[in-house]
Order: sequence, then structure tokens, then C-alpha cells
Amino acid sequence: MAHALVIGNWKLNGSLHLVSTMLFDLQYALRGIQNCKVVIAPPVIYLGNVKQAICDSFIELGAQNVDIHASGAFTGEISSAMLKDIGVKYVIIGHSERRILHSETDQVIARKFYMLKKEGLIPVLCIGETEAEYQEGKTKEACARQIDVIMHVQGSEVFNDVVVAYEPIWAIGTGKSAHPEQVQEVHSFIRTYITQKNANKASLVTIQYGGSVTSKNAEALLAQPDIDGLLVGSACLNIESFIEIIRLAAKQKQVA
Ligand code: 13P
Repeated sequence: MAHALVIGNWKLNGSLHLVSTMLFDLQYALRGIQNCKVVIAPPVIYLGNVKQAICDSFIELGAQNVDIHASGAFTGEISSAMLKDIGVKYVIIGHSERRILHSETDQVIARKFYMLKKEGLIPVLCIGETEAEYQEGKTKEACARQIDVIMHVQGSEVFNDVVVAYEPIWAIGTGKSAHPEQVQEVHSFIRTYITQKNANKASLVTIQYGGSVTSKNAEALLAQPDIDGLLVGSACLNIESFIEIIRLAAKQKQVA
């Protein structure tokens, strides 16, 4: 893949102050960087502010969620058409925090995937195993199951031009990042799994890793051939760390 993809998932963090300072510093620091796509996914209330702040740069806008409905009486929800309307390009779905804390099932996530594809937005489909599945050696099985629930209903070609983010649940926010070689093995499995079902198209799938990524471990992760980019949580809220991660991604994938 020609470009690395680094997404900063702000989760439930941020403020107008962070939007203005972070985006100003980021755009300044990233001048001259060409081969890394950068996406900021702030809380929905700041999407418009981030959009305004990045309008003169190559940074793109991401959202952290979408509703399963197109419109109607669903208080508090945001549709894929609305996200597209304000300039969002990438939308994170299937994050384990939503699966666990908001009881989102595989079926709900598959529906969100469908709504995004229909609108021409890029799903960032998070998949990954629990700590127990990891201990039992069931990582690949868990990932395949989460891919299948979409593929079996919507077909394999829907995985063209999507982002799959492998985020082992035990690695998120714990400081215990998965080992780069382990991640490589899982990413290679995911790519092959999608390729087998969708001949010659898997190269169009971008596979990111997420889970306790920092500026210290990013280089070793990005050195792996099947790690196309990173989905960064807490480290993206620190401007120096985030800039360093992006620089490393641009450098590493230029060499590749
Ligand atoms: P942390 O980088 O804070 O572990 O979060 C990862 C994540 O969940 C990104 O979506």
C-alpha cells in the first residue's frame, strides 16, 4: 500500500481549546509529509470545528460512531448521510468500547457497515479478541467471526476500500501493546482470509493495528509488512507523541 494510515481516536476527550491548539500544531508539523494519511476522529460535537480547522490541509475527518437508521424518530442519533454532509470520510464502527459498554452486537455493527458503504463513507471496522480468547489461542477465530458476520450477508466485495482495525481488547488502554510479530501474524491472516473470499481484492483493504500504541512502540509495529497503519487512542491526545507516530509511519512505509 502506498500510504500509511494513522487515525487519532479522541474517544470522550477534547475541547475547543484542544481542537484549535492540536490542529494548528499538527498542520504545522506535518508540512512536507506526503505518504501518510492522517485522520482525526473527535467527539461528534467537535466534528464541525475540526473540519474548519483542517480545511487547508491533507488531514481528514473521522467520526467515532453512526446510527443504524437513515432518519426518523431516534433521539440523539447521527446518520451516515449527516456525517457525509459535514465532510466526514472515515467512521469507526465495532469498537470494543461500543460492543461492551453499549451492548452493540455483531448484527448492529454489520448494519452500521452497510449504512456507511451505502453512503460512500469508509468504515473503520474494529475487530479483535478478548483476553480469554487470546489465552485460549482463539484470536484468528474471533477475527474471522467478526468479518464473517458482514461478509456472509453483504458479500465479500463490500470489503473493497475499507479499513479493518485489529484491536485486541486486552491491549486497549492497558499499556500492554501486542507484540509486533504477533500482530503481523494476525494481519496476514486477516488479509489472506479476505483475499480468499474476494480474489485479488484484499490489497484494497487497509489493516491498522490499535491498542496502547505510543511513539515508542510505533516504529516496530509499522516495520511489519501487513501493518498498514495505526489506530491511536490516548497517545493521539499528546501532540508530540501523535506527530512522532505520524512521522514514523510516513518514514516506514516510504521504505516499504
Ligand atoms: P489506546 O491507544 O488508548 O490503547 O486506545 C486504542 C483504541 O481503542 C483506539 O481506537
